[in-house]
Formats: sequence, C-alpha cells, structure tokens
Amino acid sequence: MLVGLQYGDEGKAKIIDALAPGYDVIARFNGGANAGHTIDTPHGRIALKQLPSGVFHPHATLYIGSGCAINPWKLAEEIEQVREMGVSLEGRLHISARAALVQPHHIAMDRRGGDTIGTTGNGIGPCYADRALRVRNDTRVNLMLGDLLGNETDTVVAMRDIFMRMINADGGTSPWVAEMSDLLLSLPKVAKTLRCYVQPDRTWLTNRVKAGARVLFEGAQSVLLDVVDGSQPYVTSSHTVPAYAYVGGDLSPKYHRRVIGVAKAIVSRVGRGPFPAELGGERSARYCHEASVSNIGKAQEKTRFSAQSLLRSSDPLDVGTALRMLTDEYGTGTGRPRRIGMLDLGELRDVIKAHGVDCVYLNKVDCLTHYANSSYQGVPVRVHGDAVPEDALPDVQIYPGLTAQSITSGREGTLDAALIGFIDFVERHIGAPLAGLGLGPERASLVLLDPRESAPVAQAASDA
Ligand code: IMP
Repeated sequence: MLVGLQYGDEGKAKIIDALAPGYDVIARFNGGANAGHTIDTPHGRIALKQLPSGVFHPHATLYIGSGCAINPWKLAEEIEQVREMGVSLEGRLHISARAALVQPHHIAMDRRGGDTIGTTGNGIGPCYADRALRVRNDTRVNLMLGDLLGNETDTVVAMRDIFMRMINADGGTSPWVAEMSDLLLSLPKVAKTLRCYVQPDRTWLTNRVKAGARVLFEGAQSVLLDVVDGSQPYVTSSHTVPAYAYVGGDLSPKYHRRVIGVAKAIVSRVGRGPFPAELGGERSARYCHEASVSNIGKAQEKTRFSAQSLLRSSDPLDVGTALRMLTDEYGTGTGRPRRIGMLDLGELRDVIKAHGVDCVYLNKVDCLTHYANSSYQGVPVRVHGDAVPEDALPDVQIYPGLTAQSITSGREGTLDAALIGFIDFVERHIGAPLAGLGLGPERASLVLLDPRESAPVAQAASDA
C-alpha cells in the first residue's frame, strides 16, 4: 500500500515504477481523472490520469477498484494512447463494474462551482455526491460503470435527462451544452472500448491474493486531501487515507501488510486551503490562484521572472516562486503554478503517526541544494508538532551543509556526512525510517536506503 503524505504530486508514480517488479497487481482505490502522473517511456512521454502507474511493467496486472470515479471518455482515450505505444491492456486491466461513473452533469457542475475550492474541474465532487445521494427527483443518479455496459441505451438516456434537467433549471443556457451532447453521442463507442476490461466479480482481487498475488495499492491525491481528514472544505471528494484501500480497492483488510508513504522535500499544494509551510503564505496562495485563473503557467513565469535573482531575495514569496521555476512545480493536468512550501517535518510526523506509515520515500532531495543560494543559506525546515518540545526548538530550523556534492555522493551510493546527517535529522523528526531518496528526475537517481543500518531510525520508529 503506497500513499502520498502531503498535498499530492509527491512523485508516487516514480516510486511505484521502482517497486513494481516486486508486485503482481497494481491497484487504484480512489479518485479518478483528477489525478495525474507523467511517465517517460522508450516511446516518449505520456501523462496518465486513471490508469494505474504500473502500466509499462508488462508483468503487472492492473486493477481499478469500486472506490474510483471513472471518466469513461478519458479512460478510453488513455487506453488508446498506450495501445498506440504498443502496450495492449487486454487481459491485464480489470475495472470494477461498481466504480462510480462520472457523468456530463458532474463535469458541468464542477466547472461551474469548483472555484471556491480550486478543484481540477473533472466532476469528481458531484460524482461522489451523487453516489451518496442515490436518487434525485425520483431519478437514480448513482450510476456505476456496470450500468453503462449492462444497459447502454437506458444509461445514456438517463444521463441526458439529468443533464438537460440541470440546464433547464439554469434557465436553458450553459456554455457546455454542445460539449456535453458530444460526450453523450460518443458514449456507445467509449462503452465498446471499455467493455472487455470491466470486472463484475467483486471477489476478483481477493481471489488473486488468495492465489498468491502481491498487490500494491496506489493512492491517488494524498492523505492531507482526504474528504474527511483533510482541512475542510479544501479537500478532494474521496478517501485518500490508507485504510480506504480496503474499501475502494475491494480487498479484505486481513491481507494488509504495510503502508509506504511518499513525500517530497519541496512541498507543493494546488487549489485553495491551508498550507502552514507555504513560502510567502497568503500572498503566495493569492498569486497562484490568480495565475491559474488567468492561465499563467510555466512559460509566462519564465519570461517574467529570473529564478536566480528571485532566489536571492529576502522575501519568502520570491524564494517560493524561484523554487517553483527551478524545480518545475506546475500541475501535470492543469499547468497551474503550484504553491510552494518548505519541508514540514512536524506535519509529516503527525500524518505518519495517524495512519501507521511504516516507511517513507522522500523525493526531490536534490532540489534542496537551491536553498544554499538563498538568503536562508541552508535548508529551512518546519519541525513543529510533538516531535520535540515546542519551547526547545524554534518552529523553523535551518539544516546546513547540504551541497551538490552531497547529492552526487548519494547517487554514487557513498553518502557524505551532510547527507547522512540529513537522513538522521529527517528520521528523528518524522518518527519513521526513510526507505529511499529521490536525488534527481531520472529513474537511476532514486537511492534506496537500508533502514536497518541506521541507528536513529530504530529509536525513532519505537517512538512512533
Ligand atoms: P477535485 O479532486 O478535482 O475535486 O479537487 C479538490 C482539491 O484537490 C483541489 O484543491 C485540487 O487541486 C486537489 N487535487 C485533486 N487532485 C489532485 C492531485 O492529483 N494532485 C494535487 N492536488 C489535487
């Protein structure tokens, strides 16, 4: 079981890519087209949203559980995209017939009302809301993927009726009528593409596990965006916490083994909501919101700003902007500038403790070396929480001495004193062992650590 420990976009796909050879099934249990990961393949780069990350590991079977919200149009498109890259998913991909079906009115509602939260506009909230509502105006609205394939004509008619009723209630106008009508027209073709992957047997995964298969659950979004546990109302609409894998992933919890967490050293958040470690605080949140509304993304920031001079500024907002530009923190699906924060070990510790996280992969550690050229002159780290008494340490500490040479030493497997010290420092504060460090974007730059060799880990783990 692998989940993101922050606000999403921690690089989970990269870790799954490294771990995939050790698993037989890679399974999604929550979310839908609001997720996104970019994968470099021998055939080029591909951005996937709904297919599990192990798609380019031919030995791995892929499962999309009943806890997911399926956008059938986008899923059919992804399947076609990977097929064009020479990867056939027939016999490899299984999608629960009970997964929720994203419908045109969900997408329209989200686009119309999602701005308060800063949603991705994929209809995820309205889809899960309809799942719980079940019936609206005497019409069943909690449609599942199996409904589409079991009775295609009636399902298309039901979706059209709900959408038109919504439009009529709005006075008969909507900027999306033509687009949504096209979606409905293409639905029979999409259903035909998806038919062979739909798995009506709710015990399919259980049977695989009983037969000896090893499953890696892949959480979409991240723990701090959980629909209940996250900071309301700035959350996604599914459960992102590890326990939900055993509901949305259609497997009994008796098969649980461990929780692998993924975090990143340059923390980011997209959309609105609290972000205690944000560089530039409220001003950064406001800037990023306005930038996403006016479609200001990577290219525009590159022409407007010099990352190196912003990095030397004494204003944390400028440092955050510089880090976004230098470490490429823009939305995979939306291109939105992500809000940037310093590494928050106190927040991580709380999440690790609450969800029983057994070990952590920390991505983007190499990016921390940019701070050496900033006015911080070291890595600023938030260490609040119950790791150490509040009065013993200030809220923000500066970790000194992490250099490009430290990163090189890590990549070469020799780990210099500064990097070893950094690992100890992080483990002590989060109360869990680090299992690996991302020291660059390439596959080979993921350095696996052996936690048993590191004394402070054992001490920290027993504290947790
Ligand atoms: P929704 O999931 O589209 O409803 O969006 C709700 C909130 O979750 C917004 O703040 C989104 O930016 C955030 N969110 C949804 N999916 C992701 C993701 O994959 N990465 C990061 N944030 C996400």
